[in-house]
Amino acid sequence: MTTSLVVLVSGAGTNLQALIDACADPAYGAKIVAVGADRDDIEALARADRAGIPTFVKQVSQFASREQWDRALADTVAGFEPDLVVSAGFMKLLSEDFLARHTTVNTHPALCPSFPGMHGPADALAYGVKVTGATLFIVDGGVDSGPIIAQTVVPVLDDDTTETLHERIKLAERTMLVDTIGLMASEGWELDGRRVRLG
Ligand code: GRF
Repeated sequence: MTTSLVVLVSGAGTNLQALIDACADPAYGAKIVAVGADRDDIEALARADRAGIPTFVKQVSQFASREQWDRALADTVAGFEPDLVVSAGFMKLLSEDFLARHTTVNTHPALCPSFPGMHGPADALAYGVKVTGATLFIVDGGVDSGPIIAQTVVPVLDDDTTETLHERIKLAERTMLVDTIGLMASEGWELDGRRVRLG
């Protein structure tokens, strides 16, 4: 059985592209049924268009409240009947209601629980850690706080800037994302407390 994915994006969409490329192989076991964004005119949506994947945009500013935006997003996602929602560079927090309806995973460019939030690479660099990385986790009600599915480690170099460090993280992050979603799709997974087991 193929695992249906809805991917949520806000920017360049390099993680999305890695998933699109992986899904081209039927043996991967997953298919992207739609790509959703919280803003227009982003490269991630262009990548989905080029791959022939349906897209939708829900901007917070189009709704009277954040709650209405979140419900509209959840309803639209539900229309595609995904097995899993992948938040890949999606820069909005999702409500408990959304998460109760849709099992959602997110990738964060730091080693959780360190450096949660919008500035993971910059915060890691400023702190002076010698290794950082990326984390794939099941989204809960907090900020980058959910059960960890996979992590990947990269070195911090003496001459790194936030940009060079984030680029190195993103290389490793894409591989982790593709490998792990593929395992979840083909082997299944289970949650035991905070511990996620694949296969
Ligand atoms: C990724 O590093 C993601 O973890 C972070 O923003 C970046 C998104 O990159 N939240 P892209 O849009 O997939 O290229």
